[in-house]
Amino acid sequence: MTIELQPPVDDPIVVDDLERLSFRVDRRAYTDDDVAAQEMAKIFDRCWLYLGHESEVPEPGSYVSRDVGGRPVVMSRGSDGQVRVFANSCTHRGALICSQPAGQAKSFRCPYHDWTFSNQGDLVGVPIPDGYGPGFRKADFGLAQHRSDSYRGFVFVTFDPEQPRTLTEYLAGATEYLDLIDDQSEVGMEVIQGAQLHGAQANWKLMMENSVDIYHFRALHKRYVSYMQSLGSVPPRRRGGFGRSLGLGHGANELPPAAARPLAHWTPMFPEEVRPSIEATAARFVERFGAEHAERITGTNRALLIFPNLLIIDAIAITIRKIDPIGADRMAITSVALAPKDEDPEIRELRKSHYLTFLGPAGFATPDDIEIVESCQRGYGNRTVRYSDLSRGMNKEIPETTDELPAREFWRQWDRLMHGDDGHFEAAHQAELEGAEQL
Ligand code: FES
Ligand code: FE
Repeated sequence: MTIELQPPVDDPIVVDDLERLSFRVDRRAYTDDDVAAQEMAKIFDRCWLYLGHESEVPEPGSYVSRDVGGRPVVMSRGSDGQVRVFANSCTHRGALICSQPAGQAKSFRCPYHDWTFSNQGDLVGVPIPDGYGPGFRKADFGLAQHRSDSYRGFVFVTFDPEQPRTLTEYLAGATEYLDLIDDQSEVGMEVIQGAQLHGAQANWKLMMENSVDIYHFRALHKRYVSYMQSLGSVPPRRRGGFGRSLGLGHGANELPPAAARPLAHWTPMFPEEVRPSIEATAARFVERFGAEHAERITGTNRALLIFPNLLIIDAIAITIRKIDPIGADRMAITSVALAPKDEDPEIRELRKSHYLTFLGPAGFATPDDIEIVESCQRGYGNRTVRYSDLSRGMNKEIPETTDELPAREFWRQWDRLMHGDDGHFEAAHQAELEGAEQL
């Protein structure tokens, strides 16, 4: 496999034509092994990547281990209370020092030769130490620590020591949407224990596009629409809402109020018994934020894409989806649910049930989405049709949710990074961005 650091300029993958209002992506982007290898070097080795939520390591000694950007890492809250992210690789000969997905530990003992590391990363134990000379110092063999930071409880890591942006700078306009999520509780949000690990035989970017694509909702998820209607609830309208570019590849879709939300928006889809509790929460939001902002937090549905591979669907439940590429034609998907820590237990049950019913891998929607992205990948195998079209909404000042603005924002940043650009906006795209920013 060869990695060309500069793709040929005369054969672009992303064809962004603001004059003809045309936006096309060459399907090589989804199928080519060289492109997949370049993405790891130019995107996943450089960006800030979502790792997890602070609530997953609630106490000193709590840890989680998982892969981020193809690398095994451990997020550990040390005995000193500080959250750190370490390479999950022993500094002796490389074995994973942690093989459990989550737990409590004062130290991590490598199973190969029993080197032991504290939960703050220091090497604290080496069996039979007289086998080493005077130059061997335990202080030189602490776990490698990655640069990490968090915003409103969301923890990110970067493997690029030269990454010029702080996490907050990197998140750009996406911070507004993370605020809308974290403001849903006065005492903080938490990941509900347990994750759903699944995948698809398709390129990872297809799931990024799919999750901010409302255009497909009524076509692909007909069963769910009729189920909602049978319960007396109103499914998302065909028109309305708006899409936004949030800068640096991030984007969002925001659907108009009236959708059901167990947080603070009762509809007949929910049992009558929970209505007083939901309405009391709604009144509390109005007290805290005023009617208008409270309505935005509690009444609208949002899909947020944080470049490159984080999706947060903040709707009937909140799901955090991390999408990891495994070569060009396979992806791993990790989904967890996020909820207010102080949620009424009955509402929590309702939230979990709706999370599973709609967003879970065996729910009403996700199997449709998996099947359709796999169908796209199979379709690309024909190779006769060269481009996919993502131009919906380029003719509008304020694109709707059924338009493809967030996907274009993703692809523009993808294109800049694949060409070695550091991701500043190009002047040519300002018109489209400014239209969205006026909201
Ligand atoms: Fe970890 Fe030897 S590889 S102790
Ligand atoms: Fe869908």
